[in-house]
Formats: sequence, structure tokens, C-alpha cells
Amino acid sequence: PGCRSLDVTMNRFFRRKRVGPLKSLLSLCLVFASLLMIQKLKPSDKEVEHRRDTGWCGSDCFSFKKGVAKTTVGSSDTLVFRKDLDAQGVSERTPSSWDAQVLKCTENASVRNEHWFQHLNPRFHQFVLHRHCRYFPMRINHPEKCVKEDVHLLMVVKSVIEQHDRREAVRKTWAKERTMDGKKIKTLFLLGSPVAGKDTHNLQKLIEYEDQIYGDILQWDFMDTFFNLTLKEVNFLKWFDIYCSGVQFIFKGDDDVFVNTYNLLEFIHTRVEERKEVDLFVGDIISNATPIRNKKSKYYIPKELYDAPYPPYAGGGGFLVSAQLARKLFVASEELQVYPIDDVFLGMCLQKLKLAPERHQGFKTFGITRLKPSSMNNEPCFYKNLIVVHKLSPQELIEMWSMVNNNDLICAQRIII
Ligand SMILES: *[C@@H]1O[C@H](CO)[C@@H](O)[C@H](O)[C@H]1NC(C)=O
Ligand SMILES: *[C@@H]1O[C@H](CO)[C@@H](O)[C@H](O)[C@H]1NC(C)=O
Repeated sequence: PGCRSLDVTMNRFFRRKRVGPLKSLLSLCLVFASLLMIQKLKPSDKEVEHRRDTGWCGSDCFSFKKGVAKTTVGSSDTLVFRKDLDAQGVSERTPSSWDAQVLKCTENASVRNEHWFQHLNPRFHQFVLHRHCRYFPMRINHPEKCVKEDVHLLMVVKSVIEQHDRREAVRKTWAKERTMDGKKIKTLFLLGSPVAGKDTHNLQKLIEYEDQIYGDILQWDFMDTFFNLTLKEVNFLKWFDIYCSGVQFIFKGDDDVFVNTYNLLEFIHTRVEERKEVDLFVGDIISNATPIRNKKSKYYIPKELYDAPYPPYAGGGGFLVSAQLARKLFVASEELQVYPIDDVFLGMCLQKLKLAPERHQGFKTFGITRLKPSSMNNEPCFYKNLIVVHKLSPQELIEMWSMVNNNDLICAQRIII
């Protein structure tokens, strides 16, 4: 029976390939429908202004959420958060709310006079000229997300505004907010701002509308470009340090991975039992790597920028880190210059802390689909036994999730976690 269900799904996969135009039409309709609804639900201009003023969502924005309303009246919210943090023993170095003020990042002109700059590949000019800007104001914030509640696992997903369908699939599957075995799971998507030239105004409205529905978006006011991915990392680490005293573990991943949430929780459980959870950082670890010097590669790094082997680091597709270590990583990150590849940057932070990330065979964020299609890609038992698998389309993710969670699915062996 397992084989038949696999056949059926594979057929469906293949058939779906041919309905491309229909799918685009549907997406278009969806965008129009959303735009229509935005017009209806559009907050008054005054409200929007207020949100800009406060630099984050503002008290209006979450006053309707239960529990928080009482404590966040007007400007007293700053005080409240500080008290909360003190109670949790978080040190005074941390401000009580998001305090980044840089509205426009102007280039560091003296970089242009550096000898190495003249030889630097132009692709990296913008990066090095703006490298000193680290923290940006927030456009959408959720200070209430995890400050009070005891959140066992915070799912943190890197995304960009345009990938709406990926977020939908992720919300329906592995990062659905819920309580499993008494353990609370919460979810946040990390976004920057639309890159100039695209339909910035409407994209921004769409994302604000999406956040009104789900309340799971963090958005910063920096351009969402590939070289700015590390900004997402450092801004999140700082955000986490301020607002998340109630979290135990973070899973950080891309919006196109498959995560077996049950296995992830089981893995955490064994680590807690073994009392090996404090400095936990586990993923698909890459060791002994050196910077890629092939100019055609997405990950190309010129010698002028970095000329040493990389420290061990986790592939960014997905890794698990304890809250304690995330706070230490924040401290370490502030002592380092921002590096354009975010996975490597975190590896550098770990190295600074003299910690090594841990490799686990359940994390497969590289390789299985990269070169040739593998039969494993459509095999539910493969996913049932792993923790993270890179890369699936939103539709594949939804289908694979339901197959893996089907009680009738019988697999020959279980992975040893
Ligand atoms: C600007 O660049 C110069 C030269 O590289 C550097 O010494 C200086 O620290 C930079 N300024 C900031 C604010 O980062
Ligand atoms: C990163 O974002 C900042 C703020 O929007 C921008 O000034 C800078 O040019 C961006 N850097 C890159 C490399 O895209």
C-alpha cells in the first residue's frame, strides 16, 4: 500500500508540472484578492504614521492581544519590559526595547581610499561601503511574541516578501504554532524591506496585511538583498536578546525546507535528558571549507575581503540552537565585522566563543537534490527519519508533510536520535 500511495503522489507531482499557466493565473488572482482586501482593511493614515513613529508595531498594534494589553499602555511599555527582563536576570547591557535609529545608511567614504578597495570586485563595493550599518529600525515588530510565555521552541524562518506561498506552506506544516506534548511552539518570519525598483509600496502593504492575519512577521528597514542576509542574523540576535526571555530553543531555517517537527522535539528531549543542551548548536556542519574563488558562484568571496579558511559552520538551511547560546552569539557578533555569508558569519561567532557546532546526520541541508534528482526526494520514509531536508516547493512540502504524518505510513527503520 505504501508503494501505491507513493505512485499516486508521484503522478500528482508530474501532472502538476503541466498546469504551470493555471497556477500563475491563480497566484495572480490571489494577489488581486489580497490587494482588494487591503483596500478594505487599510488602517487609517494616522495609524500607519504612529507605527512609523514608534519604530515598531506600537502599542496600538498589539493592545488587542490578550494578556499584554494591560501592561503596555502608552509609553510605559518600556518600563514594563525592563522589569520583565530584570526578573529573568538578563543583564543591563540590553536595552528594553528596539532602539535602532539609523534611518538612512550613508556609505563610509573613507573605505574608497583603502588600497584593497581599488582591487575589490565591484559586486562587493556596496557591501563594504555600508558594512558599518548593523541595526535598523523595525517596520513590523512583535514584542509580545515570547517575552512572557514559556516557549519551548521558537521557529525562526528567513523569508522575503515575495515568497508568500512558501510562508503559507510553512505555517500549515512544520512551523504551525501549537502545543505538542505540552511544549509550546511559536513562529516568526524574518524579513527586510523590498528592494527599490520593485513594486515597493504594494509589496509593503501586502506584508502588513499578512502580518495582521498571522502576527508572525518581523520586518526591518534594510534592503532584502543576498549580501544583507547577515543583517537579518544580527538584527534577529539583538531582537531575541531583548524580547525573548521566555524561550528555550530556536530552530532557524529557510522557508523552503522540510522539518520533521516531531523528530526535532525528540532530539531536544534527549539532549535535555543528557543535560547537554546549554551550548547546543546542531546542524549540517561544514568543516575545513575555504572561501569560493570562482567568480561565477553565488558564494564567491574575493581575497581582498577574506583570505583564511572558514571556521566550521552550519548550513543555513536549518539548525538548532539553545536560547542561552543564542544570547552568547549576540555578544560575540557585536565584536565581529559583518560578513556577507550569514552561515559563515555565525560560524565565526561560534569560533569567537571557542565553541564548535555539532554535526547530526538528521540534518540534510545540502546535496540530496543539488546535482541530480534523487529517488529519495519523493520517498516519505526518508523524510520521516530525518530532521531537516533542503529544498522543496510549497506544494511538495504540504504533500510530504501529510504523507509523513499519515499513521498508515510504515517505514522499515527509525533513525537513532
Ligand atoms: C570607515 O572606514 C575606515 C577605513 O576602512 C575605517 O577605519 C573606519 O572604522 C570606518 N568607519 C566606520 C564608522 O566603520
Ligand atoms: C543593505 O541594506 C542597507 C540598508 O537598506 C543598504 O544601504 C545597503 O546598500 C545594503 N547592502 C547590500 C550589500 O545590499
